[in-house]
Amino acid sequence: MITTADTTTARPKISFEGIVKDYRGFRAVDRVSVAVQAGELVALLGPSGCGKTTTLRMAAGFIEPTEGKIMIDGRDVTRLPPYKRDTGMVFQSYALFPHLTVGGNMLFGLKRRGVAREEAERRVRELAAMLKLDHLLDRLPKQLSGGQQQRVAVGRALVINPAVLLLDEPFSNLDAQLRESTRVELRRIQQELGITALFVTHDQSEAMAIADRVAVMDAGRLAQIDTPERLYARPATRFVANFIGRANLIDAKAAGATGRDGLTVMRGPGELKFALASDTPAEGAVVLRPEAIRIDREPTGAEFNTAEATVKSVSFLGSAAHLALEFAGDVTITAEIRGSEAASYPQGAKVWASWDASALSCVIN
Ligand SMILES: Nc1ncnc2c1ncn2[C@@H]1O[C@H](COP(=O)(O)OP(=O)(O)OP(=O)(O)O)[C@@H](O)[C@H]1O
Ligand SMILES: [Mg+2]
Repeated sequence: MITTADTTTARPKISFEGIVKDYRGFRAVDRVSVAVQAGELVALLGPSGCGKTTTLRMAAGFIEPTEGKIMIDGRDVTRLPPYKRDTGMVFQSYALFPHLTVGGNMLFGLKRRGVAREEAERRVRELAAMLKLDHLLDRLPKQLSGGQQQRVAVGRALVINPAVLLLDEPFSNLDAQLRESTRVELRRIQQELGITALFVTHDQSEAMAIADRVAVMDAGRLAQIDTPERLYARPATRFVANFIGRANLIDAKAAGATGRDGLTVMRGPGELKFALASDTPAEGAVVLRPEAIRIDREPTGAEFNTAEATVKSVSFLGSAAHLALEFAGDVTITAEIRGSEAASYPQGAKVWASWDASALSCVIN
């Protein structure tokens, strides 16, 4: 597996350096290195059990790493207890104090840090206004909706002005619509206050929508860390290509240069000949996104990046439609076209599929 090195240079706000967590013969987190810059929001993304919560809890100090180092603001915090770390944590379950009001929950961390009452109350009022909680300060958690409780949990973590905000699936209890509006709101506040944040989620669209960069984890390892756009356009591994959006992965072997454009040819099964950026491996899987495929009734006449296919099935989805295209060599590729064009390509139709070289990338098998 390729591990894409995290190459940003300014001193990070928080960094993990070769972090390992072993549980009795089982490695939950395997040599993860990630550096988060000041003001940046990085999403930790991956399927259930890949080590996201374990990584986040190591940052907060609730779990001690077996190996490796965690730095916050240039200070080694690996062996420090949570309250000495300057992190604010939002738990998946919110974990609000049930006997304290909204105001009491938000004041808690400030009191514990010995902030004077007047100053503490001013900060709570300010943040409560930002989070639209100002009218709810005297309520108890059980008198709040899920979304409101979620905002209190964020407020309680933010009010201490932590160096790093850590969020573990903070929106998982919200319905789809509230999830989206809360996500937009959190992102706005995070940017407005310049907060550095690590955001755990298993939802790739949530990660892509909220984060500056996404760290994709695969079975305890960091598979790739990159901007959402680059993760999508240039996945480093098969796992990332499949996990981020939809992908056709077609096994192919390098077969020389095109003779122009500085592109490399990779031969797939049947008549599939890809021309793509020349820094491709000798052998691997070409990643072709469904929406990058154009469909025509006539051949384009090009030598590469086009082939004849038969429409095996059509799924009409409204604004889009998915065509299952069968190519010579027993390869089936999904293409996404506009829903309004679906009627032109019924099942059984002979078509020509084509795509641009710039839409292709290649991962090693
Ligand atoms: N205390 C523990 N003892 C043994 N194994 C553990 C312990 N805590 C976690 N694990 C294992 O470590 C792995 C990573 O767990 P973790 O909670 O970090 O996953 P996750 O990525 O947060 O998953 P999810 O999306 O389901 O929350 C899992 O296989 C889990 O079973
Ligand atoms: Mg988890």
